[in-house]
Amino acid sequence: MYFGADYYPEHWPRERWDVDAKLMKEAGFNLIRVAEFAWAKLEPSEGHWDFSWLDEALDVFYKQGIQVVMGTPTATPPKWLMDKHPEIYKRDENDLVLGFGSRRHYCYNSEIYREYSEKIVEKMAQHYANHPAVAAWQIDNEFTCGDGLYCYCESCRQKFIVWLKKKYGSLDALNKAWGTVFWSQTYTDWDQIIVPKRSQAGMFGNNGHNPALNLDYSRFQSDAIVDYCAIQSRILKRWTKVPITHNVVSELCDYYKLGEQIDIATYDNYPASPWKSFLGGSPSDPAFSIDVERGIKNKNVWIMEEQSGPCGWNVLGSTPRPGQIKKWSYQAMAHGAEAIVYFRWRACLFGTEEYWYGILDHDGIPRRRYEEIKAIGKDFPKLCAYNVNSKVCADMLMIRSFEQQWTHTFQEHNWNFNYRKYLQALYNGFWANNYNMDVSNEEVDFSGYKVVIAPAFNLMDERLKEKFEKYVAEGGNLVVTFRSGTKEMDNSMTERTLPGYFKEVAGIELEEFDSINDCTVPVEGAFGKGAASIWADIIKPVTAKPVATYAGEYYAGKPAITVNEFGKGRCYYVGCDLDAEGTAQLMDYIAKECGVKPALENVPDGVEVVRKESGDGKEFWFVMNFSGKEQTVEFPCEVKAIETDEVLGRSVKLPVYGSAAVAKV
Ligand code: GAL
Repeated sequence: MYFGADYYPEHWPRERWDVDAKLMKEAGFNLIRVAEFAWAKLEPSEGHWDFSWLDEALDVFYKQGIQVVMGTPTATPPKWLMDKHPEIYKRDENDLVLGFGSRRHYCYNSEIYREYSEKIVEKMAQHYANHPAVAAWQIDNEFTCGDGLYCYCESCRQKFIVWLKKKYGSLDALNKAWGTVFWSQTYTDWDQIIVPKRSQAGMFGNNGHNPALNLDYSRFQSDAIVDYCAIQSRILKRWTKVPITHNVVSELCDYYKLGEQIDIATYDNYPASPWKSFLGGSPSDPAFSIDVERGIKNKNVWIMEEQSGPCGWNVLGSTPRPGQIKKWSYQAMAHGAEAIVYFRWRACLFGTEEYWYGILDHDGIPRRRYEEIKAIGKDFPKLCAYNVNSKVCADMLMIRSFEQQWTHTFQEHNWNFNYRKYLQALYNGFWANNYNMDVSNEEVDFSGYKVVIAPAFNLMDERLKEKFEKYVAEGGNLVVTFRSGTKEMDNSMTERTLPGYFKEVAGIELEEFDSINDCTVPVEGAFGKGAASIWADIIKPVTAKPVATYAGEYYAGKPAITVNEFGKGRCYYVGCDLDAEGTAQLMDYIAKECGVKPALENVPDGVEVVRKESGDGKEFWFVMNFSGKEQTVEFPCEVKAIETDEVLGRSVKLPVYGSAAVAKV
């Protein structure tokens, strides 16, 4: 159970450390994260190590009962290293070296970089191996975040060839799987293999390359990140028994494979950063993101960076309103966070992030945000008594697959289709009705779930077909949506009649589809009403029954959504997108039909409720008010405030931005 902040002793004079440590102790902190960007301070020139400043910082904080997450500083290779080995730099798809001056400027496949990384990780691990202040290690920082690109350098190409040889065994098999007969792309020598840089024919967001090559390159680059993480993880494991983590945010890497290299997944949560608005900015976004993180290892997570102030690099997001930091922290705990570490302790006076405010402002004086966090700190031990080892009561699983995401990224199907946003839209539909869920990949055991949702599950094979069919035949409820089952695993199109491998379980055939471009198409049915504006599959039921039909376009009257009884279970096929309200109605309808109950009934709009079970079997709830007005939430039993043990009766009043943690009396 950890509560704390991200702290950069190297940014502040030595005298200030004591002041900070005392203020932290008073706020109930017991953890700081340090050193994840401090390579140039730890190894100022090659082979010259200086741990003295960090040793001293650890002493100062440990004396106040504050431990550290020790970061390996490999996200910021220093200038001396980059000057000595410029071949480490990442090359973008235009063959450009982006150079020095920010961070993450290295190629994961560079053997030279791997060697230097090994050296510094080994040195640090050895130095801090038995240090009582070290509570955990963080490997690197947010792989690929901020670079957002794959590398296309010669080391990558050479390693890609090795990766392909292992996967395909022969060039014949590769040529067949990739369909290189198209546009005379047949490879006759392994060394001819290319990486998908910007191509002659790239246009309108498509790089023009063979989709199978694109997908294999993503798989390969994701594996490279995982391998790079594994190198560090192996070294740390030799020296220490404390947990190893990474703050996982990069969608260019398969979270689940990365998860195998770490003990705890951590997440960086910025509900009101200025960038959030690009992603939608809905209050369900952190809920979904943390559910995704929980699914990485199917266990509770830590928040390694939790927003604590107004933030941005060039423009700023809004200042957290009174109560909002607590609400975000409670929401994070609700969805599985067992540790909350705020980013950052104090706004830095210099550097790219000098606008990024933390708990304290630039002048280091504690004000409102400090007091609000201190108040959370006071209650944190009581909350943890319930929350640590607790689980979200979830009867539903949403499948989030990175391979599916990559295939939809190269070929979006429709300008307005985005896999991540589509999942979020479906999740919102459940969230708006307070249905709690797990999110994980297709490899988890489905059998404990009443409903499994497989959105846009496009790449398919026999093994998965059997898994989905078995789940439904044994009584499960599967929800499959448009753009599922149209492809084979190598990213070529399936020859099967659509929806391909889902045809039997869904009991339908697709006659046609419409990628909607200039209109919206009304959809009506037992669930309610909505409108499609991205995609419309025109469904011919075989054994399925219509749940909703289109009420517009030349396919008016044709089924848009169907349900099929299959063995002891059923499969819903959702052939179209819907507006937010229609999605919420449909998700509510499906959940009810499948016997799933929300976390709480009759919750006012804009209030989120998460129902949990503590490690020792007690029922409790987190309640967060996102509605912008005061709300009262009614419970079916007497509840008490977890923080104070005060019995509240059967209802809880929440001010604007209010949040509460309550347990059954
Ligand atoms: C995170 C990153 C931090 C800091 C923060 C604010 O993504 O891990 O190091 O950069 O964003 O930009």
